[in-house]
Amino acid sequence: MTESRTRNIGLKKNDQKYTQVIVNPRFCYVQTKKQTEHTFPREIFQGLQRKNKFIHPKFFYDEMGSCLFEKISTLDEYYLTRAESEILDTIKDNLSKYLRTDYSLIEFGSGSALKTRKLLEALTQMQDLVEYYPIDISDILKESSLDLQKDYLNLKITGIIDHYESGLDFVASIEQCKLFVFLGSSLGNFDSRGAIKFLRKIHDSMKKGDYFLVGLDLVKDRQVLERAYDDSMGITAKFNLNLLTRINKEFGGNFDLKNFEHVSFFNEQQKRIEMHIQSKVDQEIWLSQIDVAIKFKKGEMILTEYSHKYTVDQIYSLAKKSDFKVKEIWKDKNEYFSLVLLSP
Ligand code: AVJ
Repeated sequence: MTESRTRNIGLKKNDQKYTQVIVNPRFCYVQTKKQTEHTFPREIFQGLQRKNKFIHPKFFYDEMGSCLFEKISTLDEYYLTRAESEILDTIKDNLSKYLRTDYSLIEFGSGSALKTRKLLEALTQMQDLVEYYPIDISDILKESSLDLQKDYLNLKITGIIDHYESGLDFVASIEQCKLFVFLGSSLGNFDSRGAIKFLRKIHDSMKKGDYFLVGLDLVKDRQVLERAYDDSMGITAKFNLNLLTRINKEFGGNFDLKNFEHVSFFNEQQKRIEMHIQSKVDQEIWLSQIDVAIKFKKGEMILTEYSHKYTVDQIYSLAKKSDFKVKEIWKDKNEYFSLVLLSP
């Protein structure tokens, strides 16, 4: 990749400094100047110091983690990606009724952008030019953008390598109508309060005529749910435990993976899958980069992910609490998954 031009841009809104890299006339990306990475070991330590130990799921997605997630999304047991893709296959017909003018596409958590292709396929047919703003914490975004560019010639990409919330500030100044998308039921990673807070923030950055398309996984048979998060090939377990490998590599940890175990289950009351890493023994771990120790009791768990599942009633209530109007709820034929179109 040739990085032809780099410059610093200040944003009025939060005065955060981004570095912009112009890769070619149709692709550039912006990145915060590494500030975030410096806070990562502290953030992890703070989570592990609490009574209920916790690691934020954003830490899953280093190179290995992103790769393992790609693998998960092809597993028979992990129905989410397949079901959502099935709905996206009809997205052009579904959306054309709403998108009466040209739209910019803004995507949260684009990852490898495989499902995005179905949306881009539709939009690049409907418009002369499509401006696409993927927001992702992982710089896998750079490669996936270059791939997309090869396949869609009327596509202009501005990647934003940052947290969702900061990315939102960045796209606030876009003049064109906006279609926001958040696929894969990743909203489910937020706890209930956090989800509403995030939805409100998106809502407040939208204008009349903008739309928000969000993929939400539906409540279903417990066995189907639990198998999706504890697959027979053990890929999800690897994905979960890779957090420890990452901490070892990047922050000088000394986790011994033999002494930890992947645990996941459906919490019926909260309607969410919970993933944890459980300590098999009493042990103490050292994080050499910031020179701290963390104690584990046998059986103690680190919460690593919530994955909330929704009923149609809950979808309406979520929309209501964040001031959105529900325009459509599209489902796959099994009714496992939903794509919800919201307007402000
Ligand atoms: C990418 C957050 C939607 O919750 O299903 C997959 C991540 N975790 N298997 C999900 C995940 C375990 C996934 N999201």
